Amino acid sequence: MRIVIICLALTSMVHGQPVPPAPETRSADHTLRQATGDRLLIGTAVTSFDMGRPGLAALIAEQFGCLTAGNEMKPDSLQHMKGSFTFDRADQIVAFAKAHNMQMIGHTLCWHQQAPRWMFQDDNGRPLPRDIALANLKAHIETVVKHYKGKVKGWDVVNEAINDGPEPYLRDTPARRAIGDDFVLKAFEFAHKADPDAELYYNDYNIELDYKRDRALRLIRQIKAAGLRIDGVGIQGHWMLESPGVAEIERGIRAYVGEGLKVMITEMDIDVLPRRRGAGADLGAAETQGLDPYKAGLPDEVQQKLAQRYGDLFGLLMRFPQITRVTLWGTSDGDTWLNNFPVRGRTNHPMLFDRQLRPKPAFQSVIQALQSGRPRGGAGRKPN
Ligand code: XIL
Repeated sequence: MRIVIICLALTSMVHGQPVPPAPETRSADHTLRQATGDRLLIGTAVTSFDMGRPGLAALIAEQFGCLTAGNEMKPDSLQHMKGSFTFDRADQIVAFAKAHNMQMIGHTLCWHQQAPRWMFQDDNGRPLPRDIALANLKAHIETVVKHYKGKVKGWDVVNEAINDGPEPYLRDTPARRAIGDDFVLKAFEFAHKADPDAELYYNDYNIELDYKRDRALRLIRQIKAAGLRIDGVGIQGHWMLESPGVAEIERGIRAYVGEGLKVMITEMDIDVLPRRRGAGADLGAAETQGLDPYKAGLPDEVQQKLAQRYGDLFGLLMRFPQITRVTLWGTSDGDTWLNNFPVRGRTNHPMLFDRQLRPKPAFQSVIQALQSGRPRGGAGRKPN
């Protein structure tokens, strides 16, 4: 209980206002943070607006050991206009993490979405000359990584560079068109130079799956062969109720563990609504229409299925000591991006807490999986 009280007190210090307790009373040894012990980091994605919502902020501080900014550290948020950096919102999140003794993960330095056009394209949408594009990428990474030096544990250096189809092996993006395939290597090189102590990750969706894994392994081996630092692979983990299967996810995890890398599940959620395409998170593949069957709430049968699915997945993840972090992409059903992706304006139920911030059966499944996966008789090993 003491830990909860300390967290709440810190919350009120940050915002200068009293923070009401989270709606459900949970004892401190029944939080995700406590249940993981030192075995791994468990995190969530937040926006700077979440920090100003007292109930949600208190719940986040109570439950999670690390934060990722949902949008605030993306290239378009930090350098919308060339040379003009806007760190305020991201800094608020970093301050909140520090005040609550949480680690901070940087997301992301180079991505084809939520990126300013000027970085790799001219006014007519044509690729910039390679040297100018490289200089833009370098300036962005250098400034951002140095700004957060010592405050961010590790960076998703490049996000979603692998193509979903077989050819070409990297996605056709403005950065690749202007620079060439080695834009990925350059991003890792610039990031390491700017903060030699920061961990560096490659992050993507569906790279655990058979159809995409070999291309991701090829990229990772290229980064290593160039003598560049890469600490881990981020499997986003935008999964669905029925797919992908646990066995296929396990094959993916084993492949990256085999490369000697840390593996992180970096954006986990479980979509309970129907989609035309399968799991994953290709922002370019939004759907205009879709059924919205659970507007009035999630039927108990589906709620139990969701709990079972979270339990199965966390059961799998806990079997790998190389999995050093699991980050959920949001905290409650009310704040998940899946209410607007792939179809806008639906009522989704993918998270561990409901719209009233109450723990769902899925929360209990995760707690159980975390507790049973922890080494007995001790706090476990420190996440590294
Ligand atoms: C999402 C954010 O959560 C949304 O608020 C935003 O509108 C779109 O991006 N893969 C990623 C994340 O790497 O950055 C995305 O975040 C979700 C998919």
